[in-house]
Amino acid sequence: MTADIAPVAWTGGALRLVDQTLLPARLEYRDIVEVDELVDAIRRLVVRGAPALGVAGAFGVVLAVRQGVREGWDASALESAISRIREARPTAVNLAAGVDRVRPLVDKGADAVLTEAVALLDEEVEGNRTIGRHGADWLTRRLGDRPLRLLTHCNAGALATAGWGTALGVVRELHIRNRMDVVYVDETRPLLQGSRLTAWELAQVGVPYYVQPDSAAASTILRGLVDAAIVGADRIAANGDTANKVGTLGVALACAAAGIPFLVAAPWSTIDLTTPDGAGIPIEERPSAEVLASTGTPVVPPGARAHNPAFDVTPARLVTALATETGVMEIAAGRTPSLSQ
Ligand code: MRU
Repeated sequence: MTADIAPVAWTGGALRLVDQTLLPARLEYRDIVEVDELVDAIRRLVVRGAPALGVAGAFGVVLAVRQGVREGWDASALESAISRIREARPTAVNLAAGVDRVRPLVDKGADAVLTEAVALLDEEVEGNRTIGRHGADWLTRRLGDRPLRLLTHCNAGALATAGWGTALGVVRELHIRNRMDVVYVDETRPLLQGSRLTAWELAQVGVPYYVQPDSAAASTILRGLVDAAIVGADRIAANGDTANKVGTLGVALACAAAGIPFLVAAPWSTIDLTTPDGAGIPIEERPSAEVLASTGTPVVPPGARAHNPAFDVTPARLVTALATETGVMEIAAGRTPSLSQ
């Protein structure tokens, strides 16, 4: 197995990000030292995926404190810079949570913030490995001790999580146990996180996969070609309603119709107990150009308008189970009426 990729890292002087917009063609890193660069990188999905955004947000506060010292910002300029990082994308709760975790240390200086940001990064990676083991144990108990055929949507691998992966962490754990047959990877339009990133990660670690159009997912599931679907999450409300990349809801509905498990894998940092249910989760609307001219060339007639929500919400009743660092909760069966209990 190849060494794991580090999509978010601290160099000593800069926040080093894998530029995920360039994959799979090129693996390149960008060193970020200023707040505006980070906000731009978050909005353009240079760094993306809920847990990775949380870690980047925490390191972003280090950058803000350093830039403030360099440029002589007053307290309100520093606060506003930190808030711009926190609000750069709205749906993934981890971004705000990562910033909020380190924010109380700002008065103690950049080094104190940095120590906490590094702790968050380490916890996320370690947590991912635990989630992987819990998810793999649960799938094996539920489906039998045999190689599994899984379907995934978007990218919930190392790139999305700062290391190892949540949904792909479960896949990787099964692969280590020789219990992975194949992954059907939804390409995940319009930005192709599935075909560009998930397929790339699976190739790196040697897991067999097919890339399929998103529109094939329902039929792949109902034809019995997969044993379960597994996805990550961007925000999970207190009742278990789960926001994830748009298209996830269709996968969950097909799994319910086929009677196969729909498993969500996510760290506790993605659970937002202050949001009672999915209706309260803000859904990011992305630029029209991502749909109208996704390859740079218009694919629609002049004047066409786009509806481009980046996420959808899968109701808790369709989430068979949620794998976290602390174990697997069987949500749809009603055994976890509220995550806060
Ligand atoms: O818009 P993105 O690429 O930041 O979308 C987030 C995601 O990667 C997913 O929704 C993912 O499945 C959950 S994050 C591990």
